[in-house]
Amino acid sequence: MNIIAHRGASTYAPENTLAAFQKALDQGADGIELDVRLTKDNVPVICHDATVNRTSNGKGFIHNMTLNQLKKLDFGSTFSKKFKGETIPTLDETLSLIGDKPITIHIELKNGPVIPKDLERKVLDLVYRHGVEHKVVYSSFDHVSLQRLTNIDPNAKIGLLFHINLINLFDYIQNTGLHIYSIHPNHFYVTEEMIDEAHERNIEVNIYTVNNRDQAKIYQGLGIDGLITNDPLILK
Ligand code: G3P
Ligand code: CA
Repeated sequence: MNIIAHRGASTYAPENTLAAFQKALDQGADGIELDVRLTKDNVPVICHDATVNRTSNGKGFIHNMTLNQLKKLDFGSTFSKKFKGETIPTLDETLSLIGDKPITIHIELKNGPVIPKDLERKVLDLVYRHGVEHKVVYSSFDHVSLQRLTNIDPNAKIGLLFHINLINLFDYIQNTGLHIYSIHPNHFYVTEEMIDEAHERNIEVNIYTVNNRDQAKIYQGLGIDGLITNDPLILK
């Protein structure tokens, strides 16, 4: 079972920062998950929320701020004074740090409250510029965004994120018309039947977000492929 560091090793360092990604590498994670959004000047940056309010000392929507404005904010101190001065990473900086390491990079495309028209293309451009396309899985709750991405790059590995418990999940998957590499259900919806059916269709199952060791072991026993966790040391 692969251990995928959710927003980096976010138990140990501020989420979605270079410090958290470096920590995940140091701790031997098999994969790193991160959230990407576009700034006002169309630069892909890494941040979970649509605003910077929770994770920085600033306020406002990312889509209303330029990279220059965002880079002036402190994304470390809300986690711990030890990380004061940590800035919002661009996807470019992130791929420079982790791109040549033997890990899977789970890039989650974040849309809302605006749906930027260029997010998919900008992300793909950077992934190809860094030559890491073979080890990236693109995920999103916005399956239309994944469809746009597939239309640009039919070889992209697609991971469908779910935070609803769908009736006839595999009919839904079939109806997307997309080639699905993996499904990423919320962990409390995953069942043995779901895992078996996914595997019969050659689809991997990566569940989010599990931070409890006993639970992690149960899911490992069920045969999931990847565990998305804030704590890469969860089973060590
Ligand atoms: O990749 C799974 C997980 O990151 C999805 O939820 O809200 O943490 O982005 P969220
Ligand atoms: Ca995410």
